Amino acid sequence: MSFDVLQIRQQFPILSRTVHNRPLVYLDNAATTQKPQVVIDAIVDYYSNYNSNVHRGAHQLADEATRKYEDARDTVASFINANSRNEVIWTSGTTESINIVTHGMAQKLRSGDEVIVTQMEHHANLVTWQQACKASGATLLIAPINDAGELIREEFIKLIGARTRMVSIPHASNALGTLNPIKALISEIKKITANQALVMIDGAQGIAHSEVDVQQLNCDFYAFSSHKFYGPTGLGVLWGKENLLTDWPVWQTGGEMISEVSYQDAKWNTLPYRLEAGTPNIAAVIGFAAAINWFKQLDIKAVLRHEDALLTQATQMAEDFSGLRIIGSASAKVPVLSFVMDRGHPADIGFILDRQGVAIRTGHHCAEPLMNRLSVPGTARASFALYNTSDDVEQLFVALKKVKMMLA
Ligand SMILES: Cc1ncc(COP(=O)(O)O)c(C=O)c1O
Repeated sequence: MSFDVLQIRQQFPILSRTVHNRPLVYLDNAATTQKPQVVIDAIVDYYSNYNSNVHRGAHQLADEATRKYEDARDTVASFINANSRNEVIWTSGTTESINIVTHGMAQKLRSGDEVIVTQMEHHANLVTWQQACKASGATLLIAPINDAGELIREEFIKLIGARTRMVSIPHASNALGTLNPIKALISEIKKITANQALVMIDGAQGIAHSEVDVQQLNCDFYAFSSHKFYGPTGLGVLWGKENLLTDWPVWQTGGEMISEVSYQDAKWNTLPYRLEAGTPNIAAVIGFAAAINWFKQLDIKAVLRHEDALLTQATQMAEDFSGLRIIGSASAKVPVLSFVMDRGHPADIGFILDRQGVAIRTGHHCAEPLMNRLSVPGTARASFALYNTSDDVEQLFVALKKVKMMLA
C-alpha cells in the first residue's frame, strides 16, 4: 500500500499528451476523470477475447463474459459495503440511477407529501424531483445554503417533519465542492421522521473523494457514476436497500428484467435484474471493476490527504490572487476550486487557460439555480484528482496570470 503521484501518473496514458503544444494539465475531474491503463486494457481484453452477451449464452464466451460481469457486481458491492450483491443495480450513470428512484417515488407520493432537496443540487437531482412532485402532487422543498455554500443545518432540520417522504441530497456539490456531513444528516432525518422518510444520496462527487460505507451511512439509496471514478462512461450504479428495491416500481421493461411472459402479461424478475432491462454496458462494467480494483490497491487515506493538500494549495494561491474570488468556501470540501474574476467571463477564462494546456470547466455546471442563488453567471472550476500534482496547481496560476494580463 503506497501512494506515489508520479508513479500513478505513468499509469494514465492521456496525461503525457500535449494540448496546443503544451503539456496537458487536466483539471476537469469533476466532469470526468481520466482512465488508468488497467481500465483501458480490461475493456480491450473483453472486446478482443470474450466479447459476448451476458446471461443468455450457451457457449464459452458468454460464460466468461457473464462471470466477469457478475464478479464486477461483487466488486462494487464489497467496495461500498452493500449488504448484498442484489442491492447493486447497473445503470447508465448517476442521472439514470436518480431517475429510477424518482420514477418509483412519483408513483408512491401523494398530494401533501413533501420531498426535500437542497439549493446546491446538480440538475440531475433537482429536475427529476420537480417532475416527480409535479406528477404526484407532492411538494418540493429546497433547503437553503449560506454564502459559503454550506447547507444551513437548522433550516434544513426545520423542513423535516411528518410530511417528509423523501430527502435527496448530494454527497458533495459539483459546482462548489461542499462536502456535506451526510452521515449526521441521515441520522437526524431518520430520527425526526421515525424512519419514515427515505434518504437518497447523489454520490456522483462523493464516491471518488471519501470512503463510502452504505451500511454505516444508513441511507436508502446511493447513486454514482463510473466515469467520475476512473472508470468508463455510460455506466453508473444505483445502490438501494434490498427490501426497498425488491418491489420498487420497474423502471424500464423488456428483456432480462422478466421471469415469465405471455402475450397478455409479464412477471418481473428478481433483484438485481428486475431493474436492468436489455443488454447492459458489459465492457463498461468490466472496465469499472478494473478501476475499483486498481483504486483499492492504493492507500486511500493517503489519496485523500494528497487531494486535500492540492485543494489547500490552490485555495491559498487563489486567496492571494488579486481580482479573483473563490465561489464556495465550505469548511469541508472535495478538491474543487470554483472562482470568478473581476475581468473576464468564465468562458473567456476557460478559453485562455485551454490555450496554455490547462483544462478546466466553465459555466453553470448543471446547477443553474445555485448560480442564481450565489448571484454569479457561472464560474470557472478547477477540480483535482489523485494524479494531479502541486506543479499542476502552479501551472493553473501561471496560466491565470496570463488571463489577467490579457483581459486587463
Ligand atoms: C453532483 C452530481 N450529480 C449528478 C451528476 C450526473 O452524473 P452523470 O452525468 O454521470 O449521470 C453529476 C455530474 O456532473 C454531478 O456532479
